Amino acid sequence: EKRGFRHFMLKEIHEQPGVIRDTLEDRIGDATGPIRLGLSNDLFADLERIYIIACGTSWHASLVGKYLIEELAGIATEVNYASEFRYCPPPLNPRTLVIGVSQSGETGDTNAALTAAKARGVRLLGITNRPESSLGALVGELIDTRAGMEIGVAATKTFTAQLVAFYLLALHLAHLRGTQPGERIREILIGLQQLPAQIEGILDTQERYITELAREFDATRDFIFIGRGLNYPIALEGALKLKEISYIHAEGYPAGEMKHGPIALLDSEVPVVAIAVPGKVYEKTLSNAQEAKARDARLIGVAPLDEPAAVETFDQILPVPVVEEILSPILTVVPLQLLAYHIAARRGLDVDQPRNLAKSVTVE
Ligand code: F6R
Repeated sequence: EKRGFRHFMLKEIHEQPGVIRDTLEDRIGDATGPIRLGLSNDLFADLERIYIIACGTSWHASLVGKYLIEELAGIATEVNYASEFRYCPPPLNPRTLVIGVSQSGETGDTNAALTAAKARGVRLLGITNRPESSLGALVGELIDTRAGMEIGVAATKTFTAQLVAFYLLALHLAHLRGTQPGERIREILIGLQQLPAQIEGILDTQERYITELAREFDATRDFIFIGRGLNYPIALEGALKLKEISYIHAEGYPAGEMKHGPIALLDSEVPVVAIAVPGKVYEKTLSNAQEAKARDARLIGVAPLDEPAAVETFDQILPVPVVEEILSPILTVVPLQLLAYHIAARRGLDVDQPRNLAKSVTVE
């Protein structure tokens, strides 16, 4: 069932273009009509605030979701760790929407936090690829990400599918609330439809290069990932993927925070992976990367290939096609998944079943 791939994780990374096509399928038509998510409008009427509850990789997808909802629909949104929300919930009322995000739909903390929120009379929405799960039964309304089952413990295709679900939700809210002109909504929907082919391009051209690059990190003990804005959660996700399957210590930071402490960690032994794509934080991120370089850090950029400022800044570039910044997270995460995978696979580790981890964390 691995269809020639050495691990399920690699197979699932390669399934992402197809998964994104499925997530979008029949929901956006020709991008001129409303988005068909099958959700009742009552869920969104007079909405005051949104809380998103998740753990791990789903929490990272939720951070991107917060950005999209705030930017496109103008609704104040917070993201909480389920394990924190569960015991320290914020003030909630019937005009609050609580969104639970989970790949397995069986995460104990997430479902307990949703149950606690439900008892307080909030509206509930789930985002999952497992509508038949306990989370599915708990929430009245659901967006099925259609990513299907994922076997590798490290979440990959379920993450990108959650991101796509958040784009659709944010655009749906923007449409309902009239916060974006139809033309803008259409533009982003068209951009979303182009992502699968762009990911195929990354997979076709970079797999070999990243396999080679991974050899250089056989003795590396620490990695830092940095990004800003929408790509800050992707830096967190890159670090999580690497640490959970390779057991290398890795941290993700908002690039602008490095100088407030973490930069003290840097020297020639600690590679820094910076996500720097054209957009409103591009120059700022490049200059944060240069600050790391001044501490002798080896600098790897997830960046455009032929952009002079990026070429000058980075020692190596894992290229991503240039798209509108708002769409970039779905592309920038892919080289980071491959980097984590190839570093761990080279170390001969059990990539699909990393030590101490389980696919569904039902215990507290
Ligand atoms: C990371 C990973 C975990 C899960 C987390 C939440 O690759 O898989 O961090 O994301 O345990 O799981 P779900 O999404 O099933 O609620």
